Amino acid sequence: MAVSFNDKDIYNQKFNPRAHLDRYYSSKDGALVNDKYLEFVLKQLAKTFTAGVVEGETLIDIGTGLSIYQLLSACEVFKEIIVSDYSALCRQEFEKWLKKHPGTFDWSPVVRYVCDLEGQSEKSTQKEEKLRQRVKEILKCDVTQSQPLESSLPLSADCLLSSLCLEAACKDHDTYRRAIKNISTLLKPGGHLVMMGALEDTYYTVGDHRFSVLFYDAGFVRNALTGAGYIIKDFQVCPRPKDSAHSFSDYKGFFFVVACKETSSLTVLERIPIYGNPSFENSNQLNCGALKVSNKAIEPEERGTTGLLMPQDDNYKPEQNNGFNIAPGALPDW
Ligand SMILES: C[S@@+](CC[C@H](N)C(=O)[O-])C[C@H]1O[C@@H](n2cnc3c(N)ncnc32)[C@H](O)[C@@H]1O
Repeated sequence: MAVSFNDKDIYNQKFNPRAHLDRYYSSKDGALVNDKYLEFVLKQLAKTFTAGVVEGETLIDIGTGLSIYQLLSACEVFKEIIVSDYSALCRQEFEKWLKKHPGTFDWSPVVRYVCDLEGQSEKSTQKEEKLRQRVKEILKCDVTQSQPLESSLPLSADCLLSSLCLEAACKDHDTYRRAIKNISTLLKPGGHLVMMGALEDTYYTVGDHRFSVLFYDAGFVRNALTGAGYIIKDFQVCPRPKDSAHSFSDYKGFFFVVACKETSSLTVLERIPIYGNPSFENSNQLNCGALKVSNKAIEPEERGTTGLLMPQDDNYKPEQNNGFNIAPGALPDW
C-alpha cells in the first residue's frame, strides 16, 4: 500500500531536532558524517563562499532545523544571517544554541574542519562566536506559501541557502517547483541560491519516527531551477558510498548547487521581423520596439536575439536582418 506524504505539522509534533543532529551529524558515528555528505558539502560551501562570487550583506537560510554547519563559511562573507524553519521546536532549540545554553550539540569538530578548509585553523575558537553574532533573526518559514517568511518587514536577500529542506517539505514535484519560486521571492535579482539536497530518497528517520522525502533525481532539480528563472553556475553530485548499510534513510546521493537568479524576468513572446521597414524610418523607438514580451522567466532557447537595429542606428543595413544579441541578464528594464 502506498504511504502518503506526511503533513508539515509532523515537524511540530514528532521531529526532535537534537535527536536529528545526534543521528546524522555526530562526529562519532553520524550517518551523514560516515556517508561523506558533511565532508562533501563543507568543501563545496568553503569553495563557494571564499571564491568571492557569492557575496553581499544578507543571507537567509531556509529550513535551518538545528544545524549550523551550512552557515560556517557563509558567516565569513555575510554580515546579516536570518535563519528560519517551520518547526517551532527547531526555532526554540536554535535560540538555545544562540544563547549558549549548556548541553547543546557539540559542533566543535565540524567548526575545526571548516577552519582547516579555509586555511584559518587558528580561528576555530572564534568562528562559532562569529556566527552567533551574524545571526540577526530566527523566523517562522513555510516554503509552501507564496510569502514563505513570517516577518514584519519585506525581506530581500543577496543569498538564499537551504539544506535538506525542500524535499522534506514538498509532497510532489509541482509543490517543489512552486516552493523554489516561493523562496525566490526573498532573493534579489542577481542574487544566489545555494542549495543541498538528497537524491532518489523517499524517507528518513529521527528516533523511531519516519519522515517522508520527495523522490527526485538531479535532472529534476536542474529543471526546477531553470524553470524558476535561475542560471546554474555549479552543480555537484556526491553518490552514497557503496558500503553505507544503515537504514535511517534510502538516499542514493546528494547534490550541491549554486544558481543565480536572473536579473530580468522578461521573455520574448513574438518577434516581429523588420527588414528596412519604412514605417520605422522616423521612429524614435529604439531597438526593442519590435518585441512583444511577458514577465515569465526567459527560457534558455529564448536568450539571444532580443533586439533589432532601427534605421536611425549606426550599423543598420536595409534589407538585412538587423537582429542582435543581448547577453542574458543584460536586458533593459522596459
Ligand atoms: C531534514 S531537516 C534539515 C535540517 C537542516 N537544514 C539540515 O541540513 O540538517 C528538514 C527541515 O525542514 C523543515 N521543514 C519541514 N517542512 C517545512 C516547510 N514547509 N517550510 C520550511 N521548513 C520546513 C523541518 O522542520 C526541518 O527542520
